[in-house]
Amino acid sequence: MLIDSHAHLDDKRFNRDRDALIKKLKDDGVEYVINNGADLQTSLASIKLAEKYDNIYATIGVHPHDTKDMDETTIEAFRQLSSHEKVVAIGEIGLDFHYDNSPRDVQRKWFREQLKLAKELDLPVTIHSREASQEVFDMIKEEQDGSLRGVMHCYSDSVELAKEYLKIGFYISLAGPVTFKNSRVAKEVAKIVPIDKLLIETDSPYLTPEPNRGKRNEPSYVRYVAAEVAELRDMSYDDLVSATNKNAKEFYGIK
Ligand code: NI
Repeated sequence: MLIDSHAHLDDKRFNRDRDALIKKLKDDGVEYVINNGADLQTSLASIKLAEKYDNIYATIGVHPHDTKDMDETTIEAFRQLSSHEKVVAIGEIGLDFHYDNSPRDVQRKWFREQLKLAKELDLPVTIHSREASQEVFDMIKEEQDGSLRGVMHCYSDSVELAKEYLKIGFYISLAGPVTFKNSRVAKEVAKIVPIDKLLIETDSPYLTPEPNRGKRNEPSYVRYVAAEVAELRDMSYDDLVSATNKNAKEFYGIK
């Protein structure tokens, strides 16, 4: 059984068949899905899904794209929601200087506030970093006082930076792009991350792995990520899956 450690099943692209898809997860070999919030509304939607289905857990947070619409009341709402038994992390949070959907200063402010909130609540963080590699790392490192636990979601930076994240105790999560022929760096990263710091995910409905590239992504396709990473590491599929499952359960505190 697989764990998809990062998905967005509340996305409108699942409106047509969300319930059917979730009910079929077990048959498709998926034990749990960690569903990530991206603003207050999707965080609430994520919790709703987690309440409805045993095999879904929720994260709450504001994606850098949407930080322009957040304020202190959002942080206070997350503080309240964090005591929900199926809320397992703050995320996804970070910086995105590719789209710049929110002003950079606003992104920076709320990224830091949410890192601080995660420490206050003793929850791990799921991090989105796009074209802001060094700044994301620097901010995390500044906030790392030994109590910050986090995962770099859909890691797409260099091997060198991956090593820096590992040094400060962070996990590295690989997604569909590791299956792409031209993803040379992600394939290198897949080989060097210590097995106890590795997670796998889909980021559904985005980033569909080969051989389904072009279709909507879904949690069961995490098996393609697992197969590719196992091959790159020269280990069996079963060993890779059991190790990453153990990591996901420990990281998110799932019994
Ligand atoms: Ni995501």
